[in-house]
Amino acid sequence: MMVNKKIIMPSILSADFLNLGDAIAECVAAGADWFHLDIMDGHFVPNIALGPGVVGACRRATDLPLDVHLMIENPDQYLDAFATAGANSISVHHEVCSQVRNTLTTIRNMGLNAGIAISPGTAVDEIKDILDLVDLVLVMTVQPGFAGQSFIENSAEKVRRMRSIIDAAGLNTHIQVDGGINSKTAPACAEAGADYFVAASAIFQHPNGITAGIRALQSSIEVESK
Ligand code: DX5
Ligand code: ZN
Repeated sequence: MMVNKKIIMPSILSADFLNLGDAIAECVAAGADWFHLDIMDGHFVPNIALGPGVVGACRRATDLPLDVHLMIENPDQYLDAFATAGANSISVHHEVCSQVRNTLTTIRNMGLNAGIAISPGTAVDEIKDILDLVDLVLVMTVQPGFAGQSFIENSAEKVRRMRSIIDAAGLNTHIQVDGGINSKTAPACAEAGADYFVAASAIFQHPNGITAGIRALQSSIEVESK
């Protein structure tokens, strides 16, 4: 298995939006690597969250890369808007892409990283033919739609299968886990081959604050704090 640096990506979905700039600054100071922005349309998922305006605000708040997770139907229609707003990486859900090769190629042609996201009900084998077109595979470890849900227990095995397919293909694709990730669930995902760790509630709802939340995640997967 290729050993990639482990990356911590706070998902701002659980941040205090009234003080988003301060929350972002605290994450940066605590050693966050990227930010993860969850975009929800009320159709693909039963919730509505964020849009290009908030991505643009985050862009002005930090130089760290912004990872946009589109939980929306018709993602092609919005790629330009998120690219212009300052996204560095855009992930689309396999379940809603009718022309997925085109969509991923469009994202890469914009100079961005491209990601393919799979919901818990989608098998990893369904995306093995498009791995050459993606920088990351987002393995959802909860049903997409809400922060604060519990990690689905067999998800680490799904990550392991994904990593073995990626390794067999000789690729160095990143595997991102998202949903219910905390200091208890992250280690099994890391051991199975995940290297990108998204967390909302474990960071922004940590009882001892944002910095403590990031530190706890870092130490659970042996990332040295900066
Ligand atoms: C869920 C989103 C996640 C969410 C994670 O649909 O994709 O990024 O914010 O929240 P936690 O870490 O609280 O499960
Ligand atoms: Zn997400």
